[in-house]
Order: sequence, then C-alpha cells, then structure tokens
Amino acid sequence: MGKLFSPRGILLVLFTFLLAAVPALCAVCSIDLGSEWMKVAVVNLKPGQSPISIAINEISKRKSSALVAFNGGNRLIAEEAVVISARYPNKVFMQTRDMLGKSHEQVKKLAESRYLPYDIVEDSRGAADIKTDDGRTIYCAEELVSMILLYGRHLAESHAKSQIKDAVICVPPFFGQAERNGIIQAAQLAGINVLSLINEHSGAALQYGIDKDFSNESRHVVFYDMGANSVYAALVYFSAYTTKEYGKTVSVNQFQVKDVRWNANLGGQTMELRLVEHFADEFNKKLGDGVDIRKSPKAMAKLKKQVKRTKEILSANTAAPLSVESLYDDRDFRAKSERSNSSSNDMHVRMAMVDLPYMVNLGGVENVPYTLS
Ligand SMILES: Nc1ncnc2c1ncn2[C@@H]1O[C@H](COP(=O)(O)OP(=O)(O)OP(=O)(O)O)[C@@H](O)[C@H]1O
Ligand SMILES: [Mg+2]
Repeated sequence: MGKLFSPRGILLVLFTFLLAAVPALCAVCSIDLGSEWMKVAVVNLKPGQSPISIAINEISKRKSSALVAFNGGNRLIAEEAVVISARYPNKVFMQTRDMLGKSHEQVKKLAESRYLPYDIVEDSRGAADIKTDDGRTIYCAEELVSMILLYGRHLAESHAKSQIKDAVICVPPFFGQAERNGIIQAAQLAGINVLSLINEHSGAALQYGIDKDFSNESRHVVFYDMGANSVYAALVYFSAYTTKEYGKTVSVNQFQVKDVRWNANLGGQTMELRLVEHFADEFNKKLGDGVDIRKSPKAMAKLKKQVKRTKEILSANTAAPLSVESLYDDRDFRAKSERSNSSSNDMHVRMAMVDLPYMVNLGGVENVPYTLS
C-alpha cells in the first residue's frame, strides 16, 4: 500500500478533500477506539488554530475509558462509568468494540474469560445483545459502541467549539469486514459520517512521516503497538520520489506497509488476568473451606481493579503491594507482587530486527519494561 505525503502535498490534498466533503468550514475528528481506551483528535480548519490537536475529556485526560453503563435509568459514559465499575460490574459494559461482528457464542466466551457478568442473549442475527439492569432494555454491540463514539464526537466538538460530523476512525489490522461494518454502523448511529476507516499502523506511519524528509534517506521502521487486548508489529518502508508540482521539481514522501503481524488476544489485560488468577488462588487458599472467589462477580471486579493498579506500579518498581478491603464476605486481602511474578516466558515479545534501527513504540503497554526486552 503506498501513500503520498509531501508536507505541502498532503495539506493540499487534505484541504481539497475536506472542502469537497464538508459544505461549511468545520472541523473533522479522528477517533482511535481501542478495546479499553478511546483517543480523539481534531483537525481544525479555522485560521489561527493549530492544524491537529488532541481533544481532552472533562477531567483533562487525553484518553477516555471506552465504557458505557446503565444505572437506575441513567446512562453513564467513560469516567462516570468507571466510578461504578467495581460496585456494579453487571451494569458497566466494557470491551464492546470487541463484540462487533462476533457471534453470540464468541461474545459469551469473551465475557466469561474476563469475568464480566453480563446478561447476554442471542438476537435474530445470531449476534449478542446485552440486557441492562432494568431487565427489559436490550442493546446490541453496535448501539453500545455508538454511545461511546457519540461521547467521542462531543469531546471533539467541545474542543473545536464547532459542530463535527465527519470522522476518520482507526481500526486494528485484524478487523475483518464484519467488524469494520459494525464500526461504520455504530458511527452512523452516533450521527458520524465516516470519511474513512484507517488501519492503526497506517495512521501511525502517516503521522510518523508527515514532518520528515526521506529524499536523502529511505528507511524501514517497525511500529509496535501493544494495547489492552492486542498487539501488532508493522514493518513500513519510507522513501521519496521526485515529481513536478506547479512547474517545480519536488520530492514526495511515500510509505509502503511491507508486513504486519498481530496477536489479537495478547495485551495488558492478558497480564492483568494472569495476576487476577494468581491472587484469586491465593485468596481461596487463605480462606479455605472450599471458598471460590471466582463465583462472586463483585469480588472479582474489585480484585481486577486493584490488580490493574498493582500492575501499573510494577512497571516502575520491582515490587508492589496489593490491598483490597472487604474483598469477599467482609474479609480484607493483602498480598505482594514482584515484577518477576507478573512476567513469564510466553509473555515476552521478541522481534528479530536485524538492520532495523528505527522502532516506534505505541500503546499503553510500552510502559511495561519486560515487553520490550
Ligand atoms: N504504566 C503502565 N504500566 C503498565 N501497563 C500500563 C501502563 N499504562 C497503561 N498500561 C496498560 O496499557 C493498556 C492500555 O493500552 P492502550 O491505551 O494502548 O489500549 P487500547 O488502545 O484501548 O487497547 P487495544 O489497542 O488493545 O484495543 C492497559 O492494559 C493498561 O493497563
Ligand atoms: Mg490501541
């Protein structure tokens, strides 16, 4: 796949494209909807504004939890949903992006493997619908994702201080046609006009090359992104060719994605789940009497929340405490984790990068030291 992007060329192309696509001068946004986090950026067209900027949320964070919850007739999105996620794990829907284009059975398995206690029913398409806490209202994955995308659109609008309808949405390389259709349908439900779906690695490559000049040096670059539930590595070749533009000879950058490999089931949450299993066993052993904490969704949600914190502390420290008050049956749980416990050989990601000095790390798990060993 090749793309042209001399800095001047791309601005012209983008500008012409945007002017043709939108009747009035208004902003366009890009949305990276991950399985755990959503990131929104705005392409501004108004004079005096910076061309591209990240839309922050109401608590000034550059990424928002991709969650939607229903509690007592209220719909809660992102940070509002996080607040009740440990107390009401059955009311807070996570990983909805990964439910798009999946069968009912696949979604049930996904929820079970993550200890997500959802009331999942099969719809007429054979896909999964989720019942909310009132026991009557049912939403399909497209509807749940649309609520999160709508929140993203509102973040972009309040950042740009103008209405936004058009968006470019990133999708992981392993998304098939069914998942891509699901994202487009969800966007349409959110009133978003999808200008394009772009593979995450192509978006990253475009951003990497946009302000560089490859006329004197072509190069291979590896983009490596380990997120919450997936990992990919893409090998991209950047080079330049010359052409005539308005009678002048100009150098035009291009990139070619040579290869992309992924594991759609390995990421930060995989590490968390390992730790959760480890501590669940430890707690069961401590309590004895055949107690199995795994049967209590609330206890598992509390444990997962604390484990996530511990995991993140372990990225910067060799040991971290884990402390959960009233984890189960009014019993507190305290334990300690060391970095060596949380890594294991099969979690190491090794890449042969002979003659490849350029590597770009993306994704939240770049903070974990042993994934980069
Ligand atoms: N300091 C940290 N230490 C360890 N893990 C971290 C840290 N910061 C973020 N993470 C992990 O990174 C993951 C989130 O990464 P990212 O924001 O790239 O996810 P995502 O884009 O939603 O996921 P995906 O791309 O797999 O759909 C989570 O598992 C989170 O725990
Ligand atoms: Mg991601």
